[in-house]
Amino acid sequence: MEIVKRESLIQQYASPSELVRTDQELLEAARGVMESAYAPYSRFLVGCALRLQNGVIIKGSNQENMAFPSGLCAERVAIFYAGANYPDVPIIEMAITARAMDYELKDPITCCGACLQSLSEYELRFKQTIRTILQGHNGPVWVAEAGIKTFLPFQFYVQELKK
Ligand code: THU
Repeated sequence: MEIVKRESLIQQYASPSELVRTDQELLEAARGVMESAYAPYSRFLVGCALRLQNGVIIKGSNQENMAFPSGLCAERVAIFYAGANYPDVPIIEMAITARAMDYELKDPITCCGACLQSLSEYELRFKQTIRTILQGHNGPVWVAEAGIKTFLPFQFYVQELKK
């Protein structure tokens, strides 16, 4: 995968045991909330845990719907909850993990484009990069210290739209 080759942008660890304790905790929070996913259609569960600057941890899981586009990814469930309930507090870190019900997911997943766009605006709004920790159901862990631009270098941005 191309992204794996961008070694200067993503640190790779063989397992969570190599992470600092706070990263392990955030990943565990993501793993826990992942089981609350409502994903009967994709059978693909995703968990996302955010650490806010005030220390609060916000969790989200993917929520699907029979009318497929009506569902929402775990990341946007979490960041929109954060925006609604802690509108003045930046997100400093995020952990994402996933589990497929029908096969073993060994590699980390990265966020979809729509989530990256939303996360990227959260960074801009608070002038705070969101350090990102990714793991599949098991296997290696990727850490992107530089935040969302690691995955989305050119987000949609038009200054004039911001009145
Ligand atoms: N999904 C997420 O929750 N986050 C991602 O970053 C990618 C995909 C969800 C959406 C859908 O419920 C399922 O995973 C399969 O695409």
